Amino acid sequence: MAELVGPFPPGVDPDAYDRQRRRAFWRMPSGIYLLGSAFGGRRNLMTHTWAMQVATRPKLVAVSVRKDALTHELVAGGRAFSLCFVRREDRALVRVFTKPAAEGEGGSLSGVPVRTGSTGVPVLVQAAAWLECEVRGDVDAGDHTLFVGEVVDCSVPDESAPVLRVEDTRLNYGG
Ligand SMILES: Cc1cc2nc3c(=O)[nH]c(=O)nc-3n(C[C@H](O)[C@H](O)[C@H](O)COP(=O)(O)O)c2cc1C
Repeated sequence: MAELVGPFPPGVDPDAYDRQRRRAFWRMPSGIYLLGSAFGGRRNLMTHTWAMQVATRPKLVAVSVRKDALTHELVAGGRAFSLCFVRREDRALVRVFTKPAAEGEGGSLSGVPVRTGSTGVPVLVQAAAWLECEVRGDVDAGDHTLFVGEVVDCSVPDESAPVLRVEDTRLNYGG
């Protein structure tokens, strides 16, 4: 098992505290997205939750990506990403993209239809909405990198569709 991460309040049992801290993190209300990336002839969609808008002028969105993920290599190289909002009825998609996507027929990824955005990254065709961003900066965040992207294109194909959130799934991340 991985070594527990401190600091620990004085007098606590580190194991019990670690479990409690995890449960506290998992109470954070979160979205769940598909993060599109492409570089050097490779493309990917990744199930992703650590994303947020971080500025209004310019329109900046930050995504935190683990350093050992294929997506990290593709965003770092391609300097762009898409953030696709998944319809609640499409919740099965998020399980598909917890591992690197496979190229499929007709340009699909792991059998899911995508199209290529203006920055060259894949965008989920059946997304409720999506943002496409060019990377303007990256911040080292331990085992992740926070990529800060400026929104250069977007669409809202279905404003009425409820958007999937982590709590609609049995999944969680981090903690
Ligand atoms: C619910 C859920 C949320 C996730 N959120 C993130 C995230 O915010 N950042 C991240 O780097 N990986 C996240 N992951 C992990 C990636 O989906 C997974 O590690 C993926 O296999 C790595 O991406 P890759 O295909 O680019 O190698 C999450 C996984 C799950 C199940």
